Amino acid sequence: MIRASGLGKSFGAVAALEGVSFEARPGEVLGFLGPNGAGKTTTMRILTGFLEATCGKVEVCGIDLAVDSKAARARIGYLPESVPLYGEMRVAEYLAYRAALKGVPRRERRARCEEACAQVGIRDVERRIIGQLSKGYRQRVGLADALLHRPEVLILDEPTDGLDPNQRREVLKLVAELGKERTVVLSTHILPEVEQVCGRVVILDRGRVIAEGKPAELARSELVLRVTARGLAAELEAAVKAIDGVTSVRGETAGDDFVLTVECARDVREAIARAVVQAGQLRELRPASLGLEEVFARLTGRGA
Ligand SMILES: Nc1ncnc2c1ncn2[C@@H]1O[C@H](COP(=O)(O)OP(=O)(O)OP(=O)(O)O)[C@@H](O)[C@H]1O
Ligand SMILES: [Mg+2]
Repeated sequence: MIRASGLGKSFGAVAALEGVSFEARPGEVLGFLGPNGAGKTTTMRILTGFLEATCGKVEVCGIDLAVDSKAARARIGYLPESVPLYGEMRVAEYLAYRAALKGVPRRERRARCEEACAQVGIRDVERRIIGQLSKGYRQRVGLADALLHRPEVLILDEPTDGLDPNQRREVLKLVAELGKERTVVLSTHILPEVEQVCGRVVILDRGRVIAEGKPAELARSELVLRVTARGLAAELEAAVKAIDGVTSVRGETAGDDFVLTVECARDVREAIARAVVQAGQLRELRPASLGLEEVFARLTGRGA
């Protein structure tokens, strides 16, 4: 549905994006993850045709954005980082105005607005002034706006930003619902959200894609192993530490067993198994599951 290849964007001397490539497939919610300044918004603005890439190519449903930007944009609904709502307008009024801007024929506007409001659960506030709505509801108005022209792809830039936990949960539920029939690309830096709604994740850092995969796959790093053994703790630990490629070993006693958490620079499972068998008794050796949070911190070199 979306294919970005080799996207680059420079703002003067600042390279905001370098060689960003990824795909959003039909019917998936793709998470765009990255710390502040990683390039999430820049990428989304390029995908939606608001910003021109310095290099690279974007295809939306097979349409090259550079060749037919109008047709490509017609297939995308965009919720920008800060939704530019007119606070003094009523919801229905605002959406009718937006529908007109998007070229929805006059006769259909009313029905489209009602449809979009129903999709995001705001039929009950259609007559209210936007500025008097809660932030969660304002966010839904933004989502309704993005849905007015019935796009096949939704691009949502931090849709839960600034919402309280209840509103956040509601909006995520809505995103999951919308994602059933559409392709959704969603950016956030809140990791549990990603695990909740995204089938796949692209992690951006400093303008580059540094990892991609299913949240569960990313959270299962081959480079952290949990070794359960019996024997003399000090000997087991020393034996594993001596292996070339092992970067750290943390040991703890668990009943009769000794459990080693081993970080390594590459797959050294066999060497570990051999060393443990020589120093004691190997009971189990498996990749440790890291939280997505920890994977993210490691990959982006920040935090824990
Ligand atoms: N219009 C602009 N002019 C100059 N630099 C820009 C502009 N827009 C973005 N940048 C720079 O590009 C980089 C990426 O910014 P971007 O807004 O895409 O990050 P982000 O991942 O969306 O971050 P956040 O999580 O804070 O929203 C940053 O270094 C930013 O300062
Ligand atoms: Mg941003």
